[in-house]
Amino acid sequence: MAEIGVDIAKAKQILEQGGLVGIPTETVYGLAGNALNPDAVTKIFETKNRPSFDPLIVHTAGKEQVDLFTTDFPEPLAELASAFWPGPLTLLLPRQPIIPDLVTSGLDQVAVRVPQHPLTLDLLQQLTFPLAAPSANPFGYISPTRASHVQDQLGDKIPYILDGGPCTIGLESTIVGMEGKQIVVYRLGGMDLGEIEKIVGKVTVMPYSNSNPKTPGMLQSHYAPTKPLILGNLAEMVEEYLQKGRSFAVLSFQSFFPEVPASLQIALSEKGDLQEAAKNLFAAMRNLDQSEASIILAEVLPERNLGRAINDRLRRAAKA
Ligand code: TXA
Ligand code: MG
Repeated sequence: MAEIGVDIAKAKQILEQGGLVGIPTETVYGLAGNALNPDAVTKIFETKNRPSFDPLIVHTAGKEQVDLFTTDFPEPLAELASAFWPGPLTLLLPRQPIIPDLVTSGLDQVAVRVPQHPLTLDLLQQLTFPLAAPSANPFGYISPTRASHVQDQLGDKIPYILDGGPCTIGLESTIVGMEGKQIVVYRLGGMDLGEIEKIVGKVTVMPYSNSNPKTPGMLQSHYAPTKPLILGNLAEMVEEYLQKGRSFAVLSFQSFFPEVPASLQIALSEKGDLQEAAKNLFAAMRNLDQSEASIILAEVLPERNLGRAINDRLRRAAKA
């Protein structure tokens, strides 16, 4: 199993030797390797069992470092970076050849972000190279929001996990780029669209599909538990499943069902707070996925603010 700790010097040494380290960020834990070293990047794809057409996000210590591996920083995106980095926002920028083809799956843009976590920022500041880091889960499964989640799934494949505690946001970064003059959102995430629109005006949200190779993170069946997850009217579904005597677990926004065992239900935020719900979502999905129930019944949340990104993940989990 991997060693878990807060030893930045140790993480640095492993990364400098081309190895991989689990790193905390405010969104989800990442599986990090030297973004400029094709062997380290290959190891990332192998460890996650990730298809090579799904490009990686490059993490760096600050906006200043981005010039080292991009050729241009279009004005609206630079404004977003100034406003929200470090933070849960990934920007697509034209890349320099120093970024290996593997990182971008051959695309001419590279995805970049500055994560907001003290341990990881400290690590990035000490390194002479940026870190490629996808979410630290096997391809297609739920993203990890605790060091123990990384240990559970990739612990036998990596030497070290930097433990930064539970992720404070709990949803992957929002991915933003430009098509012509239009600002496009390729993945809803931890950065609220409303905040982005305050800076750059109206944005276009790309619908996800299975046939859009440009943003494979948008594959429909992604972020999914092993058990089937069904979205619908929870009260009705619970009643129906109880009547039929079927085995199920409940993932609700705020409500508890007295007829269902406490161990088989999780409310994402009793007080109805979308940020709290986001923070709890992936751990709750994992938890219920490991329960004795054979199916997870869930409901969509209010379609506003972070609720949109939460619903996006729930819908994809339901499609799997
Ligand atoms: O919050 C996050 O973004 C986390 C933490 C670790 O930073 N990382 C993450 O990475 O969610 P990952 O690999 O699970 O998702 C990366 C997604 C890809 O699936 C793809 O949709 C998009 O980012 N992406 C990366 N590079 C791209 C590129 N060059 N062009 C278009 N989309 C890209
Ligand atoms: Mg991922």
